[in-house]
Parts: sequence; C-alpha cells; structure tokens
Amino acid sequence: MIVGVPREIYPEERRVAIVPATVPSLTKAGHVVRVETGAGMAAGFSDEEYRSKGAEVVSRRDVFASEVLLGVRWDIPGEARAETLDLVRPKQVIVGSWDPLSKRENLVAWAEKGVSIFALELLPRITRAQSMDILSSMATLAGYRAVILAAMALPKIFPMLMTAAGTLTPAKVFVVGAGVAGLQAIATARRLGAAVSAYDVRPAVKEQVQSLGAKFIELDLETSGAEDQRGYAKAMDESFYQKQREMMFRVVAESDVVITTASVPGKKAPVLITREMVAGMARGSVIVDLAAERGGNCELTQPGKTVIENGVTILGPTNLPSEIPFHASQMFSRNISTFFLHLCKTGSIPFETDDEIIRDTLVVRDGEIVHPMLVGSSAGATA
Ligand code: NAI
Repeated sequence: MIVGVPREIYPEERRVAIVPATVPSLTKAGHVVRVETGAGMAAGFSDEEYRSKGAEVVSRRDVFASEVLLGVRWDIPGEARAETLDLVRPKQVIVGSWDPLSKRENLVAWAEKGVSIFALELLPRITRAQSMDILSSMATLAGYRAVILAAMALPKIFPMLMTAAGTLTPAKVFVVGAGVAGLQAIATARRLGAAVSAYDVRPAVKEQVQSLGAKFIELDLETSGAEDQRGYAKAMDESFYQKQREMMFRVVAESDVVITTASVPGKKAPVLITREMVAGMARGSVIVDLAAERGGNCELTQPGKTVIENGVTILGPTNLPSEIPFHASQMFSRNISTFFLHLCKTGSIPFETDDEIIRDTLVVRDGEIVHPMLVGSSAGATA
C-alpha cells in the first residue's frame, strides 16, 4: 500500500507519526512510504534521513493522495482542518489519535468525506496490543516530563543533601493516580531523590507503587468497583470524590509537589484538589495537573497555562510529549507502524473481523461512524 505521513499541523505539535528508523519495517513489508517535506524537522529528523531509509519525500498534496495516512493528531481545529479536509479522498484509511470520545464533531467532519478511521486511543489494553499503545507510551513521557517541570518550578531541590552548609531535607512529592503517567512520575521523582507518596483508587497498584520506592497512601474509601474490565478507572459518584478530597487534604498540604494524573476515559477528570486544598499548601509548592486537557484534577487549573494562587504554582500542560518530540515520535512511530502492519498483515484491511485490536479501533468505515461507543452518542458534540 501507499502510506502517507503528513507534517503535523495541530497547533504547537512537534511530533511526527513515522521516524526514519521505522521506514524500513514498512518498505520491507512491501509498502511505499511517502513523507511530507519537513514532516520530521520539528522532531529532529531531516528529509535526507527519510530518503536514506527508503521513503519518498513529497508535497502535502501527494501525501494526501496515499491509500493510508498515518498521523499523530487528527483532531485539528479550525481553518487548518478545513484545508486538510479538502485534500482527503473517499475510501482513504486514516490512522492516528482522534480523541474520539471527546471530539465527536471532528470525527463527523472527517466521516463526511467518506474515509475510514482507526483511532489508536481505543486500543484494548491487552498484552498483544502493548507495542501499539500510544496512550501508554505518551503518558510515560508525560509522567517523566511533569516531574522535570515541577523540579524547575519548585524553589527547592528534590534530593536530601548533607553538606558543610547544612542538611537539606528531600522534597515531598505526592502523585495522585498511579497509572502509566503516575508510575513514571513516581520513578522519575525517586531518581531525583524526592520522598514520594502516591494514591490510586485501584488498590491493585499498591505493590507497583511500593516497588518503585514510594509510599502508598491508604485512604479509607470503598474502591471495590473502581476498575472496569478494560483495566481503566470507572467514574465514581460525587460523594466519593468529596470523601477523597477530605482524606487527601493533609497529605496535599504537607507536599511540596503534587502531580495529578487521575482520569476516567471519555469523562471529565474528577476534581480532587479544591481551591481550599491549594490554600492549605505552603507558598512555593507546585501542582502539575496532567489531566488539564480533560478539565483538570485541580479546581484552579487552566489548560495550557500557569496559575499562581497564594504562592502555589499550578501548571496545566496539555501536550507534554510534544515538548520531547524526538523520543515521543520514536515511540509513536513504533506504536503506529506495529498497528498498521498488524492491520494489513493479510494483504488488505479486514473491516469485518473478530480481532479486537482492529475491531475496537475502527471508528468510521467508509464515512459511517460504526464504533459502539460512538454510534448515536452525542458525547463531545460541542468539542
Ligand atoms: P491511566 O488510566 O493509566 O492512569 C490514570 C490513573 O488514575 C489510573 O490508575 C486510575 O485508577 C487513576 N484514578 C482515576 N480516578 C482516580 C481518583 N479519583 N483518585 C486517584 N486515582 C484515580 O492513564 P495515563 O495513561 O497514566 O494518563 C493519565 C493522565 O495523563 C490522563 O488524564 C491523560 O490524558 C494525561 N496525559 C496528559 C498528557 C499531557 O501532556 N498533559 C500527555 C499524556 C497523558
């Protein structure tokens, strides 16, 4: 198949879907890879590197003439989307991240062009799909980066230091939500020497938290129904979150850094840190809210902005992987190419299949929204 890799045009996006090192895995399987001129530049990959690995470097128009398009972000806003939609063709297959559960309106606009869409966010969290899982690889990088941001914003250092000028106590870091991003945040904060504690509604993660050298905070909350079959957290009711906030009040107040990563797929992030809790923190403390794009785990978070309230810095980054585009692209490229090779391993794309990797990620088929989580729903209609 002819596979096109466009330059990303989502605002401030610096990643690229396929890096030069991945091109041979696609060409060896018989595919032709066409990369848009300059597609890898922002991530550190030149057109020349793509050519030397066997890709054709072509214009945007030629990329969009491909049978399959592999991209990082297809939830392109505004004018840029309209311009891109003018280039797509019916029957084209488009793979990447779509944020389909929150941005249905975007999906509808693309579907109207008669294309087929695979959204990698909907991959099942099963062993077979691990090497394709963009959410996990990007969250790992975000967890790492969140700690670096916190360390930069904190007027203290992380490690304990015993020096002739006195002893410095280690910074206290509290991580809320010990999923992929949270576990990497814990590991990174530990590597920098902080005293780390963490909490998650899924009690199963306690051992993983402890194995990274962090303390698992026990809260007396009923969490037996907190996990769904896919291994994700379920939304709890407001009285649960109310209790959780009360119980976390003290540990938040005692922390120098709080990193929040609590999310429930397709839902607004639960508010776990209120204005009052922020007021209870010492001046100079830092909150990094990784759930900023989903409304934030902290009441005061503003997506993409830094807020300072009572001397507490609240960071709401929305695209940390794009800040480390070289490695983020490398991981994304491995994920999306593995998925694509799996998708067409029989020589054509099987739209009717029992393979849950393909079935769960197919959201639009020849212009029709077909995914059970999206059919007839109005979720994200205003996004
Ligand atoms: P994940 O699903 O692996 O982890 C989320 C964790 O939060 C789960 O372990 C879950 O049990 C836990 N959780 C849910 N409700 C909770 C509650 N009330 N209290 C404590 N823990 C709770 O998700 P992942 O992949 O680690 O992503 C975490 C967040 O980071 C998501 O919101 C994701 O959108 C965001 N993210 C942000 C990026 C950025 O640049 N800002 C980049 C990548 C991911």
